[in-house]
Amino acid sequence: MTLNFDGREIPFKPGESVAAALYRSGVKSWRITRENGRPRGLFCGIGVCFDCLITVDGERNQRACLVSAQEGLTLSSDSSLTAQTNCAQTNSTQPNSAQHAEQTEFEGEL
Ligand code: FES
Repeated sequence: MTLNFDGREIPFKPGESVAAALYRSGVKSWRITRENGRPRGLFCGIGVCFDCLITVDGERNQRACLVSAQEGLTLSSDSSLTAQTNCAQTNSTQPNSAQHAEQTEFEGEL
């Protein structure tokens, strides 16, 4: 059973999250922060911090720690989409403003 991450096959075990599969395969980050370009990946692992946002089958800003790994899922790192994110702060696919504020505050702490 495998996922596809930026063209790379990532094996997973039944019941694993996307984040767990990536991490176990040595992928520690899959996006960068908007302000400073710092790498982000799995952090809280329980859907609270929003550090693990990833594109799943074309749907952006999914929390990798909450998405169950399933055969054939296509995952994309958001590094290639960072420029679009910077230009589309009001895009409806972005986290809501409370989530964004929380994430921005959190990023400032690290
Ligand atoms: S690792 Fe914190 S929300 Fe996914």
